[in-house]
Amino acid sequence: MPKLLHVIVACAENRVIGRDGRQPWRIPEDAKFFSGQTAGQIVVLGRICFETWPRAAEDGRRPVVITRNRALERPGVRVAGSLGEALAIAESLPGEIYVCGGQRIYEEALALPGPLRLHLTLVHAEIPGDRYFPDWRNLAWRELTRSESSDENYRYSFLTLERLVPSGT
Ligand SMILES: NC(=O)c1ccc[n+]([C@@H]2O[C@H](COP(=O)([O-])OP(=O)(O)OC[C@H]3O[C@@H](n4cnc5c(N)ncnc54)[C@H](OP(=O)(O)O)[C@@H]3O)[C@@H](O)[C@H]2O)c1
Repeated sequence: MPKLLHVIVACAENRVIGRDGRQPWRIPEDAKFFSGQTAGQIVVLGRICFETWPRAAEDGRRPVVITRNRALERPGVRVAGSLGEALAIAESLPGEIYVCGGQRIYEEALALPGPLRLHLTLVHAEIPGDRYFPDWRNLAWRELTRSESSDENYRYSFLTLERLVPSGT
């Protein structure tokens, strides 16, 4: 049986996740949550996310980087040419699989048919950006956990959602 797929993202109410190659906000509590959640696990991510996350291969994480550039492969860092290939590699490694973006990889992950758990930090603001999370609201979810928080700049919610897969699929 394939592993449960975890997708982890922080996104604004207008689904923005990034701007100019970075996150358009700095929320220390969410950064801590993201680090803690992915530590010791397999992180599947696009090349830009990998290059802009210096600690991707630290804290016991096993990155699988999606890129056409095979030269990025090195000890402790796997490379795949597609999400499908990345997930096949991830299945062979110990740990949970966390899909960490960016935009196209999230789109492809949410289009997969199997069981999926979404760890969503929803930032309650409309924020300008150039990268988006797919429209998760039109899919069927069961809310597993929710907690509210805020800092001096933003209000945000930590949500864990389980995608409801129609029976028989
Ligand atoms: N808020 C959040 O939680 C969150 C999470 C993730 C990312 N972000 C933001 O999103 C932005 C980065 O994401 P991004 O979407 O621009 O880039 P990305 O997905 O990290 O990287 C794009 C690159 O990954 C490879 N790639 C991506 N999808 C592929 C596919 N399906 N098949 C083959 N290769 C693929 C290609 O690499 P090559 O060109 O090397 O072939 C492509 O140029 C930043 O602004 C970042 O801060 C935010």
